[in-house]
Amino acid sequence: MCGIVGAVAHRKVGKILLEGLKRLEYRGYDSAGLATLEITGIQRIRQAGKVDALETALASVDLNGTQGIAHTRWATHGEASETNAHPHMSGHSVALVHNGIIDNYQEVKEGLTTKGYRFETQTDSEVIAHLIDSHYQESRNLTKAVRSAVESLAGAYAIAVMHVEHPGLLVCTRQGAPLVIGVGIDEHFIASDQLALTQVTNRFIYLEEHDLAELTAETLTIFDEQNVQVERTVQSFNITQDAADKGSFKHYMMKEIFEQPAVVKRCLEGRINQGRVLDVMFGSSSKEILDQTKAVQIVACGTSYHAGLVAKYWIEELSRIPCQVEVASEYRYRKTVPLPNTLFITLSQSGETADTLAALRKAKKEGYEGSLTICNVPGSSMVRESDLALMMNAGPEIGVASTKAFVAQLVCLMMLTLALARRTGLSEEIERNIVLGLQSLPHAIQQILDLDKRIRSLSKHYMKKNHALFLGRGVMYPIAMEGALKLKEISYIHAEAYPAGELKHGPLALVDKEMPIIAVAPNDDLIDKLKSNLEVVSARGGEICVFADQHVELKEGPSLTVLPVGRIQPFLEPILMVIPLQLLSYYVAVLKGTDIDQPRNLAKSVTVE
Ligand code: M6R
Repeated sequence: MCGIVGAVAHRKVGKILLEGLKRLEYRGYDSAGLATLEITGIQRIRQAGKVDALETALASVDLNGTQGIAHTRWATHGEASETNAHPHMSGHSVALVHNGIIDNYQEVKEGLTTKGYRFETQTDSEVIAHLIDSHYQESRNLTKAVRSAVESLAGAYAIAVMHVEHPGLLVCTRQGAPLVIGVGIDEHFIASDQLALTQVTNRFIYLEEHDLAELTAETLTIFDEQNVQVERTVQSFNITQDAADKGSFKHYMMKEIFEQPAVVKRCLEGRINQGRVLDVMFGSSSKEILDQTKAVQIVACGTSYHAGLVAKYWIEELSRIPCQVEVASEYRYRKTVPLPNTLFITLSQSGETADTLAALRKAKKEGYEGSLTICNVPGSSMVRESDLALMMNAGPEIGVASTKAFVAQLVCLMMLTLALARRTGLSEEIERNIVLGLQSLPHAIQQILDLDKRIRSLSKHYMKKNHALFLGRGVMYPIAMEGALKLKEISYIHAEAYPAGELKHGPLALVDKEMPIIAVAPNDDLIDKLKSNLEVVSARGGEICVFADQHVELKEGPSLTVLPVGRIQPFLEPILMVIPLQLLSYYVAVLKGTDIDQPRNLAKSVTVE
C-alpha cells in the first residue's frame, strides 16, 4: 500500500526521503515521487514504476531543500502513471502526499471545480490539495486550512502537507490510516511506518485518530480531534539495521523463512516459567478478562486468518471453549451476535490492516468481554486500541508473503490456548508437555530447513503447472490453505486448498496429470482417512507429494513422493508442517522468476478496504 515519508531539518533532506521510500518498498506500490521546498519554490519529481526510477531521475536534479515530503503510491483511483503519482499540488503553493481513500472525492471535486480549480489527475488525493488551498485563501494559516479541509472529507487518510509561503513547516493529520512522527535532534520526520525512519531516529510518536501535528525542525505541536493541544508519548524502539536487511539472502522471504527458529525462541522468551506459560505476557488486566472468558471470537485476514483457524482447533480441543473465526472484511459488515463473555481477538502482523481494525472497532461497540490483539508491530493501531496485546516479537517482516509472522502467531496462539485451557481444567501435565514441545520447536524447524535442497529440487516439478490442489484434514486443513495462499501469491499459480474429505464432493473432477496434489499428513487419528483420500487421487492419475510426519507409513511410487518432516508434540505439528510449504512456494517462484518480495498487485500492509 501507499507509503509516506516527510522531513524537516537543518540539513538537506532529499537523500533521507529517498532512503525512506526504499524502506517502504516492501509495502507494495507502483509509482513514487517526492517534493522539497527549495529557494526557488517547490521542486517535485515523480516517476511511474520503482523507486530506482525515481532515484535515476533525481540524479540530474540538485536538491538542496531542508524540508520535503515523499510517497510511494499503490494505485486505487487512476492508473499507475507519473501524473497520478504523489506529491499532488495545488498551483505552485501546496504540495501534499496522501495514504487512504477519500470516499466523497467526486462531490468535493465538483464543489472545487465550480470555484475554478482544475484537476490534472484521476486521483482522489488531488482534491485534498485543492481543498486545502481553497481554505488557505481564507485564513492564510496552513494548520487551520488543513483542519478545515479534512472536516469535509469522508474516508480514510493520512496526509502530510507543505506550503511555499511557510518554509520550515510541515503539517500532517490522520484518520483511519497510520502516521508516525520521528523525533530527531533539531529535526522531525513523518512516516506511514516507522521502518522508513530507522536510519534517522529510534524515537517515535504514534498519532491518534484525528490528531493534527505541526512540525518544524525544532518544535512539534500536536492537536487532538477537539483542536486541543496534547502531549503524546515518545516511544523508543531499537530496530537494528540488520533486522530490516536482506543480509546474504537473495530475498527477504528466504531470510524470514530461515529466521524462524530464532523467531520462535524470541517469542517464547520471558513467557514461560517452570514449564508453564505466564499470564502476565497478555498485560496487567489479563487475569480478569481471561478468567471471565467463556467464548472466543477471532477476526483476521489472509495468513493471519489461517493462524486463527488453526487456533480454533486448539482452543476448542484443549480448553473446550467455543471459538469462532472469521475474515475481517466479512465480519465488519455483518450483523453479528456476540455470545456473553466473549474474548474478541484480532490477529495481524502489521496491526494496521483496515478490515481487521474496523472489525475491532465494531466489536468494541458491541460489548465484548475484552479485546486482545496478537500483533508484530509495537505502537500499531490495533495494539493501541485493544485491551490486551501480545507481541509476536518476530522482528520486521518485509516480504509481502507472510512466513515468520505466521509461525510466531501460532506460537502466541498456543500460549493463549494454554492460558485459557488451564482455567477450564487442562492438566498441568499436558500443559508442561506442550510447553516442552514449544521449546523444542526451534530445533525441529531447523531440521526442516535443512531439507532445503530436497524441496528445491521438488519445486522444478511445479513451475510449469498452472494449478495445484492442497489437501489436509483437521488442523492441517488451515495449513493446506496457507500453503495454497503462499504458492498463489508469489508464483501466480492458481492453488486451492480442500479438506481431503471434501474431494469426492466436487474437486476430484479436476484431478489429472496436470493438477498436482500437495498434502500434509501428520500422524494423527485421521491419517488412515487421509491415506484413503490419496489413494482415490492416485487411482485417477493424480500426482501427489506428501509432507508427512516421519512415522506415517506411505510407500513412494511413480505418482507419490513422500517427504518426511520430523516429529514434534502432536498439537504443534501444524507449525512444523507449514515450513516445507513456505520453502516449496519460494523455490517455485524463484524458478518462475517472479518478484518474490513484492508480488504483483499486492501490498504488505493493506491499509485501505
Ligand atoms: O498485517 P496482517 O497480518 O493483518 O495482514 C493480513 C494479510 O493481508 C496478510 O496476511 C496477507 O494475506 C499476506 N500477504 C499473506 O502472505
